[in-house]
Amino acid sequence: MKNLYLCGFMGAGKTTVAKALSKRLELPCYDTDDLIVLQAGMPIPAIFSKEGEEGFRRRETACLRQLGGQSGAVIATGGGLVMNPKNVEIMKNQGILVFLDAPFELCYLRIHGDKNRPNAASRTKEELYALYRERKTVYRKASDAVIACRNRLAPVLNQLEQLYK
Ligand code: S3P
Repeated sequence: MKNLYLCGFMGAGKTTVAKALSKRLELPCYDTDDLIVLQAGMPIPAIFSKEGEEGFRRRETACLRQLGGQSGAVIATGGGLVMNPKNVEIMKNQGILVFLDAPFELCYLRIHGDKNRPNAASRTKEELYALYRERKTVYRKASDAVIACRNRLAPVLNQLEQLYK
């Protein structure tokens, strides 16, 4: 069975959607950020400050490789993970990649000032919007499917369920 990988900007709802979908489909659920924090034994901001963003990105690729051993899992990925083509290749070999496309204002409301997200905490709204635009192009190109995502979970889950059948 294939894995289902969810990508999208910070605050798009990847973790929430992954948890709800895995419950509905009775599949295991993983979150790359949670696994990285568990393995590193420190929170994301500490990884960024001790190892730099490159250290965090190396951990992301290692985490994806480990998850490749799974089959039929729902996996929420960190918002920057898809920016590395190597990661996209790993995910495509193991399953399908779906972009949860949430409007910028919604993401911004959820993430601004979040100290646990160094790439949000260190940016102004304008800078975050620029990052959102840049990333969106990459998410779209990399993904097998795009699902528009707002506050309601049910339509997103229904579409994902259809896709995964
Ligand atoms: C990041 C997004 C975060 C996390 C890290 C870096 C990013 O995940 O991986 O803080 O660069 O977009 P979420 O998308 O779950 O917030």
